[in-house]
Amino acid sequence: MGKISKLVETIEKENFEERPETLTQSTGRVDKSEEKGQVSEKATFPHVTLTEVDPRLLVYHEPESIVAENFKILRSQILHPRTGLPSRFILVTSAVPKEGKTYTSISLAFSFARTTPTILIEADLRKPTFAEKLGIKTDRGLADFLSGKISDLSSVVYKTDYHNLYILPAGELSSEAKDLFSSEAIVHFMEELRTTFPKDFFIFDSPPVLVASESISLSRLVDGILFVVRYAFSDYEVIAEAVDKIGKSKLLGFVFNNYMPSSLGLFSPKLKYYHYAYKYKYYRK
Ligand SMILES: Nc1ncnc2c1ncn2[C@@H]1O[C@H](COP(=O)(O)OP(=O)(O)O)[C@@H](O)[C@H]1O
Ligand SMILES: [Mg+2]
Repeated sequence: MGKISKLVETIEKENFEERPETLTQSTGRVDKSEEKGQVSEKATFPHVTLTEVDPRLLVYHEPESIVAENFKILRSQILHPRTGLPSRFILVTSAVPKEGKTYTSISLAFSFARTTPTILIEADLRKPTFAEKLGIKTDRGLADFLSGKISDLSSVVYKTDYHNLYILPAGELSSEAKDLFSSEAIVHFMEELRTTFPKDFFIFDSPPVLVASESISLSRLVDGILFVVRYAFSDYEVIAEAVDKIGKSKLLGFVFNNYMPSSLGLFSPKLKYYHYAYKYKYYRK
């Protein structure tokens, strides 16, 4: 058993507290979300076209691939938890850079959008990469809203040409923008999201927990947290320290990125994209 497995075991054995009420707590189960006619009214939102989606994003390019299938499973476990309500505000984070937070956020958003209106939020204002990964050009976003430069949420959320998928990009970056995550501005932002989009799911990409405090601020305001662990990359101690910082009460589970299926006995020469296969564990409180 590796160190990560040990961490997983430890967390699995713990009795999680009840998820505390948060500002962003969903007010009702979002069931039947796959039915037509539930898309929120967003007719007035600016449009953006995904022009050059990173070829590694297989959920987009190869919706029938094993990677897409893994994200479908993850999606359905989030949408249909064993107990309680589904998390509508989902933070994707990890301990350190390059573990696959952005890859996971975007892939999960594509997967969610196939069944339910989804807003993908670039909350890593230190290293925003949506433009590069999705081939989009936008001129405003989260930083502009948080700084008060733009007060209308509907002008920073872009409708994409991918059905049901909306993107809230980083916007105009400044050295102060990241400080706004610990201010009233972020609380106001979350409330605005909740009231403007009562049925949608929000996926927050974020900076690494051990490098930036923004993810910790966000962890207090979301409903659920997905913690990305890049296989054979980060030490157990590093992961444990980061998990400790965000707390376990909202942890939905770990996404093991770049997990080699061969090590799980899943490898098959027929699985063309085994390099990118995911293995995740899902834990409920
Ligand atoms: N499972 C994966 N399959 C293919 N490429 C991946 C995978 N996970 C991450 N990558 C690539 O690795 C790099 C780092 O991932 P990224 O999501 O940007 O990390 P983070 O956001 O945690 O810093 C990116 O180029 C990303 O496209
Ligand atoms: Mg990133």
